[in-house]
Formats: sequence, structure tokens, C-alpha cells
Amino acid sequence: MYKINDNYLKLPGSYLFSTIGKKVAAYSAAHPDKTIIRLGIGDVTQPLAPAIISAMHKAVDEMGEAATFRGYAPDLGYEFLRSAIARGDYASRGADIQADEIFVSDGAKCDSGNIQEIFGLDNRIAVCDPVYPVYVDTNAMAGRTGEYDPKTQRWSNVIYMPCTAENGFAPELPQETPDLIYLCFPNNPTGSAITKEQLQAWVDYANRAGAVIIYDAAYEAYISEENVPHTIYECEGARTCAIELKSFSKNAGFTGVRLGYTVIPKDLKCGDVSLHSLWARRHGTKYNGAPYIIQRAGEAVYSKEGRQQLARQVETYMYNARTIREGLEAAGYKVYGGVNAPYIWLKTPGGMTSWEFFDYLLEQANVVGTPGSGFGPSGEGYFRLTAFGSYENSVEALKRIRKL
Ligand code: MLT
Repeated sequence: MYKINDNYLKLPGSYLFSTIGKKVAAYSAAHPDKTIIRLGIGDVTQPLAPAIISAMHKAVDEMGEAATFRGYAPDLGYEFLRSAIARGDYASRGADIQADEIFVSDGAKCDSGNIQEIFGLDNRIAVCDPVYPVYVDTNAMAGRTGEYDPKTQRWSNVIYMPCTAENGFAPELPQETPDLIYLCFPNNPTGSAITKEQLQAWVDYANRAGAVIIYDAAYEAYISEENVPHTIYECEGARTCAIELKSFSKNAGFTGVRLGYTVIPKDLKCGDVSLHSLWARRHGTKYNGAPYIIQRAGEAVYSKEGRQQLARQVETYMYNARTIREGLEAAGYKVYGGVNAPYIWLKTPGGMTSWEFFDYLLEQANVVGTPGSGFGPSGEGYFRLTAFGSYENSVEALKRIRKL
């Protein structure tokens, strides 16, 4: 008789955004007359920029001609895109990352879930609390996280690094030594950022401890303050301890198009074994490359027109963020984030739990957000709103919340 991977049975509930989706669908079915504003999942709403659309059209035409048709993409990504990324995201910031250290994929969510496969099952992970659920859930599926305690909402073999208002939502170096450290800055869900000096302290720590930092920089395009690092490779020594994950979803609106990449420097080694070669082996075996049309769209992100158009999109979302943040503050809410990230993280009012506030907002204001406790126990008592909605919806949601 076959056996299943019973690590899946240890997972609590369903994936956070599926749970929210089901709740909202049930409410909406019962109240078809209500107009619901969705500021829950961080999904973009602006259409793809013209420079990206025209690159896609051109690539579609190429696919219709025998002379320019492309079959399987190179499994690590087309050279034109890897070079554009190396120049646009790294050389431009003085970070030493070469095109052949970049692995193109169909999105950062998959990479952030898959990257754990190249590490031993006895590695111990450290995560911020609250945290993007994919990091923990995928390690749990692999059997690396021990047992789940529903009372504390913690896994026995995970090191949690609380990020709360008291520490400015910046994790402190852990007491116990982890092997893998997941960091995401600007942060999802708290919307906070850390300075280059703070990130340098993590890089130094990882090099000392022999740990690897898995650095998720999906929200880098939203950084507005000086001295906030755009990539971990701005820090000295990061080439020997860090993997970086990057998405095209949030900076270029690719949530429905799918494109991302992972950087593994060739200097990152466990003894003699290069992690770069392990990931290349994994990629080559399990993946046939992101589609040509989408990689050409990705290349257009780095063109002059693409950059200008995307800067305006980011500005629009950040204008929503400011509007929501200032509006909630004026209404007496304690609000964080929304300065270097498209997320607003607020304290739930009147001692409500995160899920109580979720229900309250859904039922009384027909506004959907994300309960902080869904991201981890230290998220309890907090709530996340995304700035990725339209301006009109952001203003309308704010109006409804203020009315409460
Ligand atoms: C979020 O809402 O946290 C993100 O959009 C989820 C994701 O990027 O997968």
C-alpha cells in the first residue's frame, strides 16, 4: 500500500489566502448586493505597462515565424534577460553579481518554496514572526520543522524571530544558531524596512555562524528612503552567505504573467560544494525555463521606457499607501509600514484579535484585509491592508473604515 507524505497532514488549516478567499466568497454569496473592496492579497491592479505589452507583441510575432520561433528556453534563462538583470539590478548598485549567477524562473513564490530542496533535512530554519507563510509551510512539507503546536501556533524545530512595534519590526539576532535564515525586506507583511547597517549585521552573523540567508527582495522597487539596501549584495561578504529571490510581480505587475529570478553567487559554498551548481542541477532537472514571450517582457522592464512607466505605477501604489496610512492615522489607528513597501500594518482597535477585526471589517465595511495572525503568532492583534488596489477603491475603503 502506498504511503503519503504525512508532513502535509501536520500543516494547520489551508493556505492563508485560500482561507480568506473562501470566507469572502461565502460572505459575498450570502450578500450579493454588497460591493466588496479587496485589499487582502497583494495582487496588482494596474495593467501591464505599454513597453512590456509591445515587447510581448513582438515576441508573439516571432513565435509565429519559422525563422524566429523558439522551443524550450534555456533552463536557467535567456542570456538577454540575465544580462539585463545583472546590469539593471546589480551593476547599477555597485553589487558584484554576474549574469550566470542569475536563475530565471516563473516567479518568486515557487523559488521561495523550492529553494529549501537543496538543503539537508536536518537544517534548522529561522524566520521572522510574522512571516510570508510560504517559507515555513514548504519547510514543513519537506519535514524540516518538527511538530506543530496549535496552542502556540509554532513549529517545534523553527526559530522564530518576533518582529513587533517594540523592536521596530526588525528581527534581532537569534539566541539559538540557525542554518537557514529567511529575511524579507522591505517586509511582507509589516511593510517595514531595515538599513544597510542592520542588514550588514545579518550578513556578518551568517558568515560567522556558517548559515545561509535566503533574502526575499520582492518589494525592493518600493524603497523610498535613503540607506535602505535594494539588494543584499550591497553588503560586504554577502556573496559567501546569501541567496536572493526577486519577483517581477510587484514592480512590473507580472502577477498574472509569472516571472522571477534567484541569485546564487558562485562563492556560496558548503565545504567544496557550490550551491550554485546544486540549484542549476535542480533547475535543469525539474524546470524547462520561463516562456520566451515572458522573458522578452521581463527584458522590457529594464528598457528606458519600461523603467519610466513602471516608476509611475509604483508611485501610484505608494500614493494609495500614503492615503491609507495618513487616513487611518487621522482616524486614531496605530499604523506602520507604507513608506518603503506597499503594505500598511495596523494595530487592531479595541483589543480585537486579527480574525475578529477581519470579520468586523468584512461585515461592517465590506472591506477585505489580511489578519496579522495568519502570518504568525506575533502578528496577532495586527492587520494588513495592501496599497495595490485602485486609488478610488483605496479612498472608498478608507471612508468606510473611518465611518466605523
Ligand atoms: C501577499 O499578499 O502576501 C502576496 O501577494 C502573496 C504572494 O506574493 O504570493
